[in-house]
Amino acid sequence: MPQHNPFRSVRQSRSRQIHAMAGESMMPLRLLQLTDPHLFGDPGGQLLGITTRRSFESVLTLALSGNPPPDALLLTGDLVHDETPAGYRYLRERLRRIGVPHYCIGGNHDIPALMTEHLDSAAPGSVALRRLGRWNLILLDSSTPDSDGGYLTQTQLVRLAELLADEQAPALIALHHHPAAIGSTWIDRIGVANGAELLTLCERHAQIKAVLFGHIHQDFSARHRDCLLLGAPSTCFQFTPGSPDFAIDEIPPGYRELRLYPDGRLETQVVRLEQYAEMPLHLVGGY
Ligand SMILES: [Fe+2]
Repeated sequence: MPQHNPFRSVRQSRSRQIHAMAGESMMPLRLLQLTDPHLFGDPGGQLLGITTRRSFESVLTLALSGNPPPDALLLTGDLVHDETPAGYRYLRERLRRIGVPHYCIGGNHDIPALMTEHLDSAAPGSVALRRLGRWNLILLDSSTPDSDGGYLTQTQLVRLAELLADEQAPALIALHHHPAAIGSTWIDRIGVANGAELLTLCERHAQIKAVLFGHIHQDFSARHRDCLLLGAPSTCFQFTPGSPDFAIDEIPPGYRELRLYPDGRLETQVVRLEQYAEMPLHLVGGY
């Protein structure tokens, strides 16, 4: 079988490219996950000493510098930190300018009504399926009102099971909160409270190749049976892996890249800025 460079791909319009890749070649589709940007309406807004719009732009520039450009972007929550329409409007316009399909999920810091109003179809809400070539991307909103933790309602889980019964194509599930413990006591208290129900669905449906999430502000990779569980670094500040208490890591921000092959194979890696000019503040107890 001939070798090929997964980073060299069909050069067409983005929408045509996705269909061409699905039907005509074994070239992988490149999906980039950016998460937890914690943007502000004010371009100079800072969180823990990080100007979050500046760090988001830095990571986005790195993410878009590859050739060819990505086929789609996935943003897994905590999009806007200060609950402002201006924060969501900035994000909408920034994503539109990139010109590739993009999908946004809400996190515990997001306001669903503002997401719906300002991100339109890019933020499809409770449960939604989007096609990526021969793959399916299923988006779940795991946020719960007035809580940092996540939960999936029975309505969502039933709908998800229906989608999986109907759709046998290789699938990714994306949500904000982590559905299984990652070994960090403080943040494991605020994952998906009923994440075990999601993992049971993964056991029953072999087409689910990976569950992608944000929220944990760190690289994470584990397996649940044959399904990958993948967390990604935030585009702003990072949490220290394995820490029992809230702790800030000084490792630079980044994103996760996924290469999705038409035959269901998946390759993934985390890519980080080599360095970032602002250092995060080390606060005790949270932010
Ligand atoms: Fe976050």
